[in-house]
Amino acid sequence: MAQTSVSLINLEDRYGAHNYHPLPVVLEYGKGIYVWDVEGKKYFDFLSAYSAVNQGHCHPKIIDALKLQAEALTLTSRAFYNSYLGPYEKFVTELFGYDKVLPMNTGVEGGETANKLARKWGYMKKGIPHNKARIIFAKGNFWGRTLAAISSSDDPLSYEGFGPYMPGYDLIPFNNLNALETELKDPNVCAFMVEPIQGEAGVVVPDEGYLKGIRDLCTKYNVLFIADEVQTGIARTGRLLATDYEDAKPDILILGKALSGGVFPVSAVLANDEVMLCIQPGEHGSTFGGNPLACAVAKAALEVVLDEKLSKNAFELGVYFREKMNAIIGETNLVSKVRGKGLLNAIVINDTPDSSTAWDICLALKDNGLLAKPTHGNIIRFAPPLVINKEQMDECVSIIRKTLLEFRK
Ligand SMILES: Cc1ncc(COP(=O)(O)O)c(C=O)c1O
Repeated sequence: MAQTSVSLINLEDRYGAHNYHPLPVVLEYGKGIYVWDVEGKKYFDFLSAYSAVNQGHCHPKIIDALKLQAEALTLTSRAFYNSYLGPYEKFVTELFGYDKVLPMNTGVEGGETANKLARKWGYMKKGIPHNKARIIFAKGNFWGRTLAAISSSDDPLSYEGFGPYMPGYDLIPFNNLNALETELKDPNVCAFMVEPIQGEAGVVVPDEGYLKGIRDLCTKYNVLFIADEVQTGIARTGRLLATDYEDAKPDILILGKALSGGVFPVSAVLANDEVMLCIQPGEHGSTFGGNPLACAVAKAALEVVLDEKLSKNAFELGVYFREKMNAIIGETNLVSKVRGKGLLNAIVINDTPDSSTAWDICLALKDNGLLAKPTHGNIIRFAPPLVINKEQMDECVSIIRKTLLEFRK
């Protein structure tokens, strides 16, 4: 029997857990900024797998690295050395300017690793009494689905029904340095963990100076600044890191998603020796973390970002995109604002978060050949692969304009 979109959606519905609510499109093929569904219809991908595919789908250089490495050695575990890990570690630490890297797989494991490192540092270096370490987070944060990650969440959809929760976590408002300073005065605080732009919360961009303010306060109170750049990192916001905008270098940097160009999960936690060497053999790890395949893929993925100047492209086309979106906002009463940095942007729909308007617009965008997904009900994120060019962006802008104007009628 031919595999149609309907039959494949039914299969997922019947045999898969219902922990996602996808748009009704079944993708089969991807190249650069495009994806094709099983019926052969072509779409612009304006989600990029939540910014994992910054380099574009199936980038030839990354796929070549994957194939070559797959035929040599894929996994040894960390019980032995392998000849790929050291060179990759040197490359990635020099690129981001840290003494050491701890390789993991998913983004949430990166967050867990950063939390463990911060607690350990708190006990060993800051002198926090046994089991008293606190980590502060911003409201609206999202860093994954593990019990630790949901314990720091203020979104009931994430945490409700999964308690009891991890102790030692507290929340303050995002973009509020006064609230941060109040918390950091407590000597038991070991870290503040924050996304430079809150992605899943709906691309919430803080005021200019916020990141530098965090850096200064963390230094003043001897607290670690953990930047979760899993979504904002690797050129997405128009700089290699979003924290680069303000010269606000974190003590612990978490990377994931586009670190592999969307090929498979590769994450990394970077820090200097004072922090990283607090963890000793046997205290943390992962069977797949730092595997040869991941090292080859991540190195190629980062080289693509540098060689193709994707930060610059994201910066320039981001400015252009927001300018075009602002013009569309003037034409329709459907969108209240566009916000973002680089090619991490969102439009806020003039409707309540529990309305179906944003979902319906995404369905119409799909019919018109562009894939995007609502976040938090009335917000639509637009995050194309960073390899998009101006002509393609113009085509996308006209699809978005046409769709929004159709909706106004
Ligand atoms: C900022 C941020 N951190 C962490 C994660 C978790 O990454 P993963 O889904 O690979 O575990 C996400 C995922 O969306 C994210 O946006």
